[in-house]
Amino acid sequence: MSIVIERVDTVLWKKIVLPRLSWKSPGIRKSQREGAALSIDAGGRLPRHVGIIMDGNGRWAEARGLPRSAGHRQGVQALREIVRVSGKLGISVLTAYCFSTENWQRPQEEVDFLMQLLLEVLSDELESLHEEGVRIVPIGRLEDLPKAVRKQVEQAAKLTAHNQLIKLNMAISYGGRLEIITAIQRLLDAAKTDNSLVLDEATLAQYLYTVGDPDLDLIIRTGGEQRLSNFLLWQGAYAELYFSDIMWPDFTVEDFMEAIRDYQRRERRFGRIPGK
Ligand code: FPP
Repeated sequence: MSIVIERVDTVLWKKIVLPRLSWKSPGIRKSQREGAALSIDAGGRLPRHVGIIMDGNGRWAEARGLPRSAGHRQGVQALREIVRVSGKLGISVLTAYCFSTENWQRPQEEVDFLMQLLLEVLSDELESLHEEGVRIVPIGRLEDLPKAVRKQVEQAAKLTAHNQLIKLNMAISYGGRLEIITAIQRLLDAAKTDNSLVLDEATLAQYLYTVGDPDLDLIIRTGGEQRLSNFLLWQGAYAELYFSDIMWPDFTVEDFMEAIRDYQRRERRFGRIPGK
């Protein structure tokens, strides 16, 4: 049964519809099926922009005696579920770290597999993502990608360009430092013909891949490591960080909800003193 959900942010919706949806999720763990409620504090603050570092695919597979590729494949399922639930929650932007500029240094076989997987995912899932109202935006140095992958990624972006439910930034051949350098270069180029341009934070942000997106509120990293690995360095300046020991393929909707609940308990000060 598929459930059509209108975008309403009411307590009723969060308390009732999400638990029902969880029963439909193929990737959910047993404990979830047994009734753990998928609720968040409906009156609490919701992150507008969430970044995810999907780490642990390789270890997940190796622990099961499987090739690393099996972990990546399972990782796609986990991502699919998180995109679905993020849209339903009303999160505006989700940025998924799919492939970093450093990942090109992995064995060629793994790089080829990830590129092929990207191609596959963007053809198999495109229709349903589009129907759900997901806007896909690739961010990163797309010129590095094999031609067919680049074409597919650009097609997905074009097809979904007007979707409103949620923006899914797919960071592919992405590096945070590279993004900042590229933005500065583009700003300098533009300044050659526009005297009014100044180098300040707001202007630089206009030249980032994420132009128009709110800054990151929350970064989730799975797989037990606690670092940013060159992910959204500018946009994440004041992000709350959430680290989980769970390997990405095992990261469920309920784990995601727990990260959101944790975020809701944080006091965000942005360098200020509360109440002053
Ligand atoms: C890190 O795990 C994960 C990646 C480098 C790729 C993440 C990609 C996906 C979840 C699939 C979606 C993306 C595409 C390309 C369709 P790891 O391999 O570093 O795991 P390890 O730390 O256990 O070795």
